[in-house]
Amino acid sequence: KKSVDDINVKGKRVLVRCDFNVPLKNGEITDETRIVAALPTIQKLINDGGKVILCSHLGKVKNGPNEGESLAPVAKRLSEKLGKEVVFVSDYNVTGEAATKAVEAMKEGDVVLLQNTRFRGEEETKNGEQFSKELADLADDYVCDAFGSSHRAHASVAGVTKFISAKGGSNVVGYLMEKEIAFLGNAVENPVRPFVAILGGAKVADKLNVISNLLEKCDTLIIGGGMAYTFLKAQGYEIGKSLVDDSKIDYCKEMMAKAEKLGKKLLLPVDAVTIADFPNPIDAPVEVEVCDVKNMPADREGCDIGPKTAELYAEAVKTAKTVVWNGPMGVFENPTLAKGTIAVAKALAETDATTIIGGGDSAAAVNQLGFADKMSHISTGGGASLEFLEGKELPGVVAADDK
Ligand code: 3PG
Repeated sequence: KKSVDDINVKGKRVLVRCDFNVPLKNGEITDETRIVAALPTIQKLINDGGKVILCSHLGKVKNGPNEGESLAPVAKRLSEKLGKEVVFVSDYNVTGEAATKAVEAMKEGDVVLLQNTRFRGEEETKNGEQFSKELADLADDYVCDAFGSSHRAHASVAGVTKFISAKGGSNVVGYLMEKEIAFLGNAVENPVRPFVAILGGAKVADKLNVISNLLEKCDTLIIGGGMAYTFLKAQGYEIGKSLVDDSKIDYCKEMMAKAEKLGKKLLLPVDAVTIADFPNPIDAPVEVEVCDVKNMPADREGCDIGPKTAELYAEAVKTAKTVVWNGPMGVFENPTLAKGTIAVAKALAETDATTIIGGGDSAAAVNQLGFADKMSHISTGGGASLEFLEGKELPGVVAADDK
């Protein structure tokens, strides 16, 4: 795919789709990772004398445009990070007169940020053509650097490219996109072996394709988190009150058979940290009991991998040359039920292997534990990194011009 290095943006208007969907608390940004990750591309376009028009969504925008989901805090933080003014177009129309005026006033190296693209309901629907065209009308070229949104075929992610092409402009990917694709792509398609994949999270249903695809690519697949109990039940164990999806038992059996057929190791928990009642709030104190998976009491619920399992998984990581991790091993929001997730994070932090963390909960866990610097790559995309690991083509990538 063409990248920002393949175009000359001097004096040109460049629309850049970022993923500035950052967590906010009382109007304050609580994690600026995605803003920081977008800086290299923005800085490059500024240095090259482009007129940099940024856009992004923020939140789900379920009840229409509102100040709580405005990109205003992002404009402010971005301006601090870049050390220069970022003109924010607060108009809920995103495009339109205010945006056009702001763009007309731009000089080389200026930066404008448009309002939350989801304030235009069409962003997410099949009727986004008009909005795509309005976005394209503001610019000469288009850069997609929104890895976290690249699995969505939305107006500002993919739709816009058609209209940029129609007027002879270029559609390219930014540095963040390139980096994400290089790490995730290499890990899956061309890993240094042994390649160990670790999957966790609550539900098997969320990971069906990723389990199947990674099983084909990796040497060892490690399963933890809530979804492990469906596998354990499929193995014939009693799992007490643990989370289970009975409709996926056959699927789990199929995956175990597939692992055996392909000669892959599939590691499942051998012990579990169990509780009698789920904590409320989630980080409230809990009484735990470690149980062997062969003897899970009927009235208890597994909420983390046990110490033997943690050791087993850490050993598997030690022998790996490439590790991909997506999804926590237990209810890591509760300190008593976070030990398995911490043990896995620690094993990754201590190895010299290439370590790649899928976005979302596992990235949050690694950040929270202060291990971020120890990982080779932490993806900025939750859903997007998962779809990438499933082997799916991402609309935001597909839409960019080929070299
Ligand atoms: C994310 O946070 O994963 C991306 O920004 C996409 O957000 P979405 O799931 O609301 O489309």
